[in-house]
Amino acid sequence: MADKKAQLIIEGAAPVELPILTGTVGPDVIDVRSLTATGRFTFDPGFMSTASCESKITYIDGDNGILLHRGYPIEQLAEKSDYLETCYLLLNGELPTAEQKAQFVSTVKNHTMVHEQLKTFFNGFRRDAHPMAVMCGVVGALSAFYHDSLDINNPQHREISAIRLVAKMPTLAAMVYKYSMGQPMMYPRNDLSYAENFLHMMFNTPCEIKPISPVLAKAMDRIFILHADHEQNASTSTVRLAGSSGANPFACIAAGIAALWGPAHGGANEAVLTMLDEIGDVSNIDKFIAKAKDKNDPFKLMGFGHRVYKNRDPRATVMKQTCDEVLKELGIQNDPQLELAMRLEEIALTDPYFIERSLYPNVDFYSGIILKAIGIPTSMFTVIFALARTVGWISHWKEMLSSPYKIGRPRQLYTGYESRDITKLEDRK
Ligand code: CMC
Repeated sequence: MADKKAQLIIEGAAPVELPILTGTVGPDVIDVRSLTATGRFTFDPGFMSTASCESKITYIDGDNGILLHRGYPIEQLAEKSDYLETCYLLLNGELPTAEQKAQFVSTVKNHTMVHEQLKTFFNGFRRDAHPMAVMCGVVGALSAFYHDSLDINNPQHREISAIRLVAKMPTLAAMVYKYSMGQPMMYPRNDLSYAENFLHMMFNTPCEIKPISPVLAKAMDRIFILHADHEQNASTSTVRLAGSSGANPFACIAAGIAALWGPAHGGANEAVLTMLDEIGDVSNIDKFIAKAKDKNDPFKLMGFGHRVYKNRDPRATVMKQTCDEVLKELGIQNDPQLELAMRLEEIALTDPYFIERSLYPNVDFYSGIILKAIGIPTSMFTVIFALARTVGWISHWKEMLSSPYKIGRPRQLYTGYESRDITKLEDRK
């Protein structure tokens, strides 16, 4: 795919010819791999202009608000598919036939329980620990339990690990919540759908099993679909980088969870609610909008803006519709925090500062509101993002391992001291 070439002119040196690679859709990329031979590197902190890998899983056109998984638009997947089908698609490249789907769902359900011994890990954590801290620990700890699927060079092991992770994440996420509440942990119920089972493990107790609302289960499933993958974001790149050293899949996913935790990434859904609390009342909005615009103030409107989407976040459009459905089902109309959120949305969509910088509400703006309405505590929001994103992470990890790859090892522009000699302690000033 490299019939075009770019020429790099470096003063005082011979021109360098660099191949231009063309993908199926999206911009061409200049292949700079041969540059090392010239003794030079490229400099691109934040990877604003750098493709770190080739991938067939997800395509994003940020200018036009397009998100495709294996070619299928996210809007169609949210409308016509379900989370486990989307998992199959991401992992295997095609939507399943009815038979393949039944087999996949049954296999996932066979793996929903976690080793009983894993429960004892929880006791080592304080009950008020942040759920993401506990998730980093217990997901990493899975590698100490499933030795039979840790050979990363064995495709069958990779497959079993992928299924285990998709199957066990809801169980672990609900265990984290129950532990924080001091309630007994609930075993998974394999007669329920993936989303119903998660809500069952979260909200039911051994002494009271209530039926799960189909509207809330559908909303949960949509949240899972909309967070399933998003190409080479910070956490997925972390998983790929960890995986490139040969680390086992459970350790790689734990690394992804850690990267997701930050408020600029998956932590944004939690940060949205914290921000709404901080703003407190509609009458304070103008003050906070002014803070968001002030270059000397670190405050940012959480849930607005995106590194890639510079027009609209297609996930946010679907999420907003689900948000309306959930609020209607729960009869929430006059919630002051919701009123505040809607007013912020209105301002951001009309204020020149936000328009000029293309700062639209992103997926986390609405998912935070939905999760709160369902009754999920704010500190669990990013855990739910991690649960849903696990399939994306593991699909990228599998894709990387299925073709020749190199350990990820970025270079740097060194601006520290040149070589110097140590002076004796007594002579140092
Ligand atoms: N509030 C106020 N100003 C903002 C915001 C915001 N949320 N986001 C960006 N800006 C301004 C920024 O100050 C800069 O202004 P100027 O050009 O005058 O210097 C301009 O917009 C461009 O911002 P940037 O920081 O260069 O953009 P980025 O692509 O590096 O950052 C972002 C993207 C998502 C980290 C950022 O928009 C942000 O921090 N948003 C809030 C956190 C958030 O909601 N994150 C969730 C993203 S969706 C979930 C996911 O996929 O992980």
